Amino acid sequence: MRILSGIKPTGKLHIGNYFGAFKQFLEYDDAFIFVANYHALNTHPEPEKLKEMTLDIVLDYLALGLDPNKATIFLQSDVPEVTELTFILSNYTPMGLLERAHAYKDAIAKGKKDINHGLFTYPVLMAADILLYQSELVPVGKDQKQHLEIARDLAIKFNGKFGEVFTVPEPKILENVAVVPGLDGRKMSKSYDNTIEVFLEPKKLKKKIMKIVTDSTPVEEPKDPDKCNVFNLYKLFATKEEIEEMREKYRLGNYGYGHAKLELFEKINNFFAPYREKRKELEKNQDDIFALLQEHAQRARKVAKETIEKVRDAVGILKTRR
Ligand code: ADP
Ligand code: TRP
Repeated sequence: MRILSGIKPTGKLHIGNYFGAFKQFLEYDDAFIFVANYHALNTHPEPEKLKEMTLDIVLDYLALGLDPNKATIFLQSDVPEVTELTFILSNYTPMGLLERAHAYKDAIAKGKKDINHGLFTYPVLMAADILLYQSELVPVGKDQKQHLEIARDLAIKFNGKFGEVFTVPEPKILENVAVVPGLDGRKMSKSYDNTIEVFLEPKKLKKKIMKIVTDSTPVEEPKDPDKCNVFNLYKLFATKEEIEEMREKYRLGNYGYGHAKLELFEKINNFFAPYREKRKELEKNQDDIFALLQEHAQRARKVAKETIEKVRDAVGILKTRR
């Protein structure tokens, strides 16, 4: 089963991303995982920062155990066929379809004046990502559901007109994965500034955990574990027995949120410590990372070239070279 997913390099990987998306990528033997750096351009990131964040994601994923023997890990920009497919597909994409896309519609509704063409055609580039590699399954978060529908729609229409050129992708909407709460109890998200990043050093990690919002029940009094963000985060890292033990402590009283936070810190810190070490090793060998990315881009490009040849031929582009 060919799965594909892309990650936009717009911020540091947090615990919500790890449990909500990344862990699923490890379950497949034929995964195409890429960094969607072209997709980041419509927000005009600072150029050096974009380069840095692109590499950061690759390091994060390798450190967390994405296996280069199972997964093809590459940069979107290393397979230029994707831009060609975007252009060709755009000619078969009705304006109305893109005008109904959430990101564009929201921007219009907010009265934004500086909307660029990159934002408008974002769903076409994403469809090209998916269709270029003949992906069967695309695991994404709920917010990407409409983009997947557009990709399917374009594939079905194109195949209807030109024959079976594209595999029609199935979405795998990651909605049964629990929502990981952030520091303030809302969904952990970069946009809420309530994240705990996966690769924080212990000191900074502790500081973040101490910021988790709790109610003002005094230390002596019993507390409701299920209403507490600290406990809900602890559940992600602890064994069944440990969870029950902490539950008891909450119920009995004489156990403050500060105590629970320290236990949570120990858990998260120990859980990610080996990955932090691995990441430091990887960082030292940037040349190896670039070599890996190039090799994997070649792998991806092989599939991409087959698809683009079919597409060109289908729509009537004359072939002059062999
Ligand atoms: P953010 O909300 O921080 O911008 P993204 O939208 O980049 O995160 O999310 C990337 C992936 O991580 C998506 O598949 C999304 O569903 C998942 N994800 C993000 N935050 C959470 C969370 N708090 N709980 C579960 N999954 C999450
Ligand atoms: N749009 C996705 C996001 O913002 C990232 C992405 C780009 C993607 N291309 C993709 C995801 C192809 C899955 C498949 O999260």
